[in-house]
Amino acid sequence: MPIINFPFFKKKTSQQIELKKDNLPEHVAIIMDGNGRWAKKRGLPRIAGHKQGMDNVKRIVKIANKHQVKVLTLYAFSTENWKRPKTEVDYLMKLPTEFLNTYLPELVEENVKIQTIGDFDVLPAHTKNAVDNAKDRTRDNSGLILNIALNYGSRYEITEAIKKVVEDVEANKYTLTDIDEELFSSYLYTSNLKDPDLLIRTSGEIRLSNFLLWQSAYTEFWFTDVLWPDFDEVQFEKALYDYQNRKRRYGGI
Ligand code: IPE
Ligand code: IPE
Ligand code: MG
Repeated sequence: MPIINFPFFKKKTSQQIELKKDNLPEHVAIIMDGNGRWAKKRGLPRIAGHKQGMDNVKRIVKIANKHQVKVLTLYAFSTENWKRPKTEVDYLMKLPTEFLNTYLPELVEENVKIQTIGDFDVLPAHTKNAVDNAKDRTRDNSGLILNIALNYGSRYEITEAIKKVVEDVEANKYTLTDIDEELFSSYLYTSNLKDPDLLIRTSGEIRLSNFLLWQSAYTEFWFTDVLWPDFDEVQFEKALYDYQNRKRRYGGI
């Protein structure tokens, strides 16, 4: 059982924190924020922060795997991120390729299965090809699902789902009264995944920024000021520890 030593706890109580084996989150979602500020603090261009953030993804996948997390959903690019300068967007669109060129063999080795959520069709061909190849190569893997939210926006996802539901009603696949939460969920990008148990956002912003609005109805939220490239094993395990000590009531008592 991993024993974690948190310096700030230690200062107060000299207490060592122990993760329990059970009650770990099965699905962890992360809003990986703060790459730009990480770079700025160092006098570097924003893209240097994105590069560092990309390398951190590999580190966190390994730790998630170690703690038997089943699904790790990472917010890599939102439907609103197209508003950024073209040079930054172009770099962000190259990152999946760079990430997979560097780490795909290790991910295959670690039995990781790669999936995506988001509007995939409008991505540049080179991004789509790299990700499609990674999905293919990891299709039969049975370990951690690395679910990358790429050009993802929750409102777009929900709006598209509504259009498909209406189409299917019009095609007499079912009637209006058949529509319930479960059926509607099956039209979302996340149809094959359970809802996130734990959602982490780095960099001190306390908002969802259009991430998993439907799916996070009963998710536990965890925020830290640490910038994404600095988010490490200690931070991740602190989030897991806090999660284990929450009481999820789902409206009950
Ligand atoms: C998160 O870091 C990565 C993406 C949104 C693609 P940011 O680029 O948002 O970093 P900050 O928030 O400007 O520091
Ligand atoms: C959210 O971060 C999107 C990703 C991490 C990919 P942003 O940096 O885009 O969010 P806002 O603009 O601060 O809300
Ligand atoms: Mg940001």
